[in-house]
Amino acid sequence: MRIGIVGGGQLGRMFIQNALNYGHEIVTLDPDPEAPCSLISHEFICADRNDEEAVYQMGKTCDVVTIEIENVSVPALKRLEAEGVKVFPQPRILEMVKDKGVQKRFYEEHGLPTAPFALVESKEQIRQHLDLLPVMQKMRVGGYDGKGVTPIKTEADIPSGFDAPSVLEQWVDYALELAVLVARNENGEVTSFPVVEQVFNAEANLVDYLVSPARIKPEVEAEARALAEKLIAEIDMVGLLAVELFLTRDGRVLINEIAPRPHNSGHHTIEACYVSQFDVHMRSILNWPLGDTSLRTPAAMINLLGEKGFSGPVVYQGMDEAIATSGVYPHVYGKALTKPFRKMGHVTVVGSSSEEALEKAKRVKEGIKVIA
Ligand SMILES: Nc1ncnc2c1ncn2[C@@H]1O[C@H](COP(=O)(O)OP(=O)(O)O)[C@@H](O)[C@H]1O
Ligand SMILES: [Mg+2]
Repeated sequence: MRIGIVGGGQLGRMFIQNALNYGHEIVTLDPDPEAPCSLISHEFICADRNDEEAVYQMGKTCDVVTIEIENVSVPALKRLEAEGVKVFPQPRILEMVKDKGVQKRFYEEHGLPTAPFALVESKEQIRQHLDLLPVMQKMRVGGYDGKGVTPIKTEADIPSGFDAPSVLEQWVDYALELAVLVARNENGEVTSFPVVEQVFNAEANLVDYLVSPARIKPEVEAEARALAEKLIAEIDMVGLLAVELFLTRDGRVLINEIAPRPHNSGHHTIEACYVSQFDVHMRSILNWPLGDTSLRTPAAMINLLGEKGFSGPVVYQGMDEAIATSGVYPHVYGKALTKPFRKMGHVTVVGSSSEEALEKAKRVKEGIKVIA
């Protein structure tokens, strides 16, 4: 099969690494000539992901087109779909997910549990919803990795809010942040991965480490997976979907947001599961059997983020000890330049339990520095 990927980052790169095992031919499109996918694609097209003509022309040469980032030309994907090219996730899913307001409305209309919210057009309009405070204000479009969210705890915080169309989401008093990766093929077959527990770095607003199996009760595990499976069927999506969830202190599972693609919270599946998230994404868009998503071993994952205070050609310091340790799997994304908090790679660590994997992952994290 010839598979086209819009976007050339690390998610695309790991998708390609797996797809090569099956003999597929891959074409990637990204504006960065040194994008992580550029050196390992059969063909690389250097163009803006929102360049309708470029995305359309690439798609016309493919059997299937997919994405590895949501910010792409939806009009191009719609034209391709109308002309019979398989495009997964479907362009209408990208349209919905791009806008957090539309996402939230969808959950509400379909009776899917999510925190109460209101939509506003401007900062000034927050004053009409004082009863909802404290809230997290989320820009409806364009936010990622914590960059489009800001807390509005009291009226005094309103001046520091975003003056843009946004979602005011009631503050969730969560015990844990969880993620479920779920996939569906054209036949309607659905599968999900064991729940992942995420821990955030407050300063960088990125996942610090994650671990699977999550340290939650079996009923919560079952509820989270059932919710993700219901969601993908209700939105009638084909492909892999990452569902970010909150487990509240009083034991409820709420949907935070979704991403219709492989996700940072599924990297451990490469070593820890019978099929990885990248394999399952490929299987789902080709309408193949989805495979066995169960864990072969507990695992933890850490992101390798660019160290604060360093920008320039990247150096990975302290890898020697990590690669000498049993059950430690580094992944370097092939980005030439580092900058503070840029995602430069990740390390998966397997162990006999979540705790053991996590302890080992913490030691690995302390030993590695991504500097320039
Ligand atoms: N309603 C909320 N209450 C408390 N914390 C929240 C809420 N919404 C988001 N957060 C925190 O902010 C993080 C980023 O928000 P999210 O909506 O996932 O945006 P992003 O697109 O940046 O990932 C979440 O992972 C969570 O830690
Ligand atoms: Mg998020």
